[in-house]
Formats: sequence, structure tokens, C-alpha cells
Amino acid sequence: MKEILDAILSSDSTAADFAAIKLPESYRAVTLHKDEEQMFAGLASRDKDPRTSLHLDDVALPELGPGEALVAVMASAVNYNTVWSSIFEPVSTFGFLERYGRLSPLTKRHDLPYHVLGSDLAGVVLRTGAGVNAWKPGDEVVAHCLSVELESSDGHNDTMMDPEQRIWGFETNFGGLAQLALVKTNQLMPKPAHLTWEEAASPGLVNSTAYRQLVSQNGAGMKQGDNVLIWGASGGLGSYATQYALAGGATPICVVSNDQKAEICRAMGAEAIIDRSAEGYRFWKDENTQDPREWKRLGGRIRELTGGEDVDIVFEHPGRETFGASVYVTRKGGTIVTCASTSGYMHQYDNRYLWMSLKKIVGSHFANYREAWEANRLVAKGKIHPTLSKVYSLEQTGQAALDVHQNKHQGKVGVLCLAPSEGLGVRDAELREKHLPAINRFRDI
Ligand SMILES: NC(=O)c1ccc[n+]([C@@H]2O[C@H](COP(=O)([O-])OP(=O)(O)OC[C@H]3O[C@@H](n4cnc5c(N)ncnc54)[C@H](OP(=O)(O)O)[C@@H]3O)[C@@H](O)[C@H]2O)c1
Repeated sequence: MKEILDAILSSDSTAADFAAIKLPESYRAVTLHKDEEQMFAGLASRDKDPRTSLHLDDVALPELGPGEALVAVMASAVNYNTVWSSIFEPVSTFGFLERYGRLSPLTKRHDLPYHVLGSDLAGVVLRTGAGVNAWKPGDEVVAHCLSVELESSDGHNDTMMDPEQRIWGFETNFGGLAQLALVKTNQLMPKPAHLTWEEAASPGLVNSTAYRQLVSQNGAGMKQGDNVLIWGASGGLGSYATQYALAGGATPICVVSNDQKAEICRAMGAEAIIDRSAEGYRFWKDENTQDPREWKRLGGRIRELTGGEDVDIVFEHPGRETFGASVYVTRKGGTIVTCASTSGYMHQYDNRYLWMSLKKIVGSHFANYREAWEANRLVAKGKIHPTLSKVYSLEQTGQAALDVHQNKHQGKVGVLCLAPSEGLGVRDAELREKHLPAINRFRDI
């Protein structure tokens, strides 16, 4: 591993140097163990501690298949899917690996008694498989997490529609929270040159998801002047949704749960902010009954902030707790676009407000190849910025996942894998200098 790291840290390593490095037989990786999938049985979600289920193990280097790349991972990031995997909710991810393993002899590699997690990476290509021409050893890359087989015509217009669509490092093995990772080469994208490894590794999953959900015609198709209600506006997804709304000439109405998060939204440029804790919204009277007066109170607050207008789009992901309110506050003809259900997936809303006011509910999930590429391009151009707040070592990934599980984090939480320290990997100092305050926004608060 030292030889790999030395080559990456040296400024004059060539593709031939990387290709000549002898690969190790094993590498360090953050794993879940299949024989522990029942370890939290009977516990409430909040009591399930990722520090006990996530391990740092030596695992065998997987065989490289056609169209794939082995990447030396300098940095990765924690996503909420790391939390779901680590608490085995709503299902154990080993079921995904078993199902994937039944597809072909090559996918069988993924069905192991351990699961290497992680759906983001920034690093350097070490080897490419048969049939790969666009990438070579030594290329500095980030990887998006869309894994598709593309053998069915269903996915040929929109790769998210592939029947064998999976999220790498969640529904497949050999993810990014490790020293090395295995990806399909059409997941690879150029690493933004003005960012450090840990900054470059942090947007991937959430940035691409927010792009499809809010900007793309496959999602809400946001346009200039739209009012966009963004739940969790300083969180992983929300911190990108807020940037897209501002960059696209829309008005974000940012919902957060404390002053510090409100401050971050202001630093991004948002003016309309709702502190859901301070304002004490209680959309549910009890477990089964919602309180429409509370929906109305939220709608009234939104009108106060917008000069009397309702929202064109609601950027939804909390799910059960907020969905009834989201449907209510959307303007006539508006869109509620949802990609998740953090607080519960059995949603309840009053359908009269949907059909009578001709509103739409749109489901959105990650991003297709092109959307992921476009979202990364915007980061590379310095138009959308990473929202990295804190960086942990690979050994501390359990703590990093616990922070996200307990909603104690801001924006994104990074993880150093092979990178020996933060701050490395910047290739375009001039572009970085121009955007430094924006890049550091989430760190400074
Ligand atoms: N389908 C996809 O492709 C996709 C992609 C990415 C993420 N996701 C899912 O989307 C969800 C959010 O991911 P994330 O990365 O943004 O997580 P995150 O970083 O934890 O941010 C979510 C934010 O939502 C707010 N929130 C949480 N529970 C809430 C509730 N009950 N009511 C209102 N607001 C609440 C919190 O902000 P405040 O406390 O400040 O309000 C929190 O910071 C997760 O379930 C994740 O698995 C799905």
C-alpha cells in the first residue's frame, strides 16, 4: 500500500508507474459482518450504534472484471445509506448481495460474508479491466454510485430505469470506505481539480441525487423564480438542493432545526429560513392522527417569508413526519418530489389537497449517468461547492456514522482512506483560491 500512496503523492508518477505497481492481496476496509445482522434485534432505531456493527478488516482484493476499475481510495464520505446499512434497516444489505450474486458468475464475487460499504470516493485508478479505453492507471477520479448492467432496453434512455440498477457500496460490495475499491468504469468521473481528496469525495451521492430530484426534467424541473421548500436544508441532500435553488434563480425556503444550521443556510445565500424546532411544528397529534392546523401554520409562515406566495416545489425526504404538510403547502399545480422516508415510509396525506389542486408527487432516486456527470461538472467548475464539515479517519467511521444517525452533523462528513492527512490533492490552486470561502462554509461554523 505504501508504494501506491508514494506514487500518488509524488508529482511525477506516470500511467506506466501506476500500471507497474504490484497490487496487494488484501486491503483495509470498513465492513459489516453477515453473522451479526441480528445484533440489534429488538432495539429502537436510535439505540442501534454503528460503532458496534462497523468493523475495520483486512479483506481480499476482488478479481477485476471487464469494464471495471480498481481504484486507490484517498477519501470517501459517510452517507445516510451507511447509517441504514450499519443498523440493518429497513433490511439487511446482505440480501442485496445475495440477490446480485445470483445474476452471473462475475456478480457472484459480491456475495460474501462481509460487506464493504461506501458510496463515494475520490482516488486514483490503479487497473482497468478488459474493454476499457477511456480510463487508465494514474487518472485522478471520483466515482458516482450508479451500478447498472444495461442489458435491458428499459434503461437505455434513462440509466436509472435499468432493471438491474443498484447503488454501489450499498446494494453491491467493494465500496469506497476502504483503501481500495472496485467500480464499473462508467461510474468514473474526473476529480474536480481545485478540491482536496476529502472535499472531492463528499458531494457525489447527495449532489447527484439533489440534481435529479430538483433540477432535472426527470425530477421537479425547477425553473427561475420557483419557491422551493427544502427540508433539512443544511443536511447532506439539502445543502446541495439549497445551492441548486440559489444558482438556478429560485428562492429556497430552508427548514432546519437549530440556529447553527440556520446560520449555514444564510452563509450559502438563503434568506427565507424556518427553524422547525424553535417554531415547534407538531404535524402529528398522536401516532395515527395528523393536525391540519399545523400544516396551515407552516403554510402561513411560508407566505410570510415569500410575500404571500406558496411553494412551487417541496424537496421531500423526511417522509412520514412531514409528508402531509408538504402536500398541503404546495401551490396549485406544484410538485412534491421525494427521494426518501427517513422518519417512516408509510406516508399519510389528505388527497383532496392533491387532486383538487392538481399537484404532483414525483418519486426520484439517485441520478442517471448523465445527471451524475452534470452534477460533478458543476462542482468542477466551482458553481456548486462541497459541504464538508468534518473529516474522520477510516478507523473512526463508526463514530462518523453515529454523528449522521443522531443528526449531529452539518452538510457532509468525510473519511480519509489512504490520504495521510487533509488538504492534499489540489491541482488547480487558482480556482480554489477564488472559491475558498464557499468551499469552507460548512467548516467555519
Ligand atoms: N433515493 C436516493 O437516491 C437518496 C439519496 C440520498 C439520500 N437519500 C435518503 O434521504 C434521507 C436524507 O439524506 P441526507 O444525506 O440528506 O441526510 P442528512 O445529512 O441526515 O440530512 C437530513 C436532514 O433532514 C432533516 N430531518 C431529519 N429528520 C427529519 C424530520 N423528522 N422532520 C423534518 N426534518 C428532518 C434534518 O435537518 P434539520 O434537523 O436541520 O431539520 C437532517 O439534517 C435519508 O433517508 C437518505 O437515506 C436518498
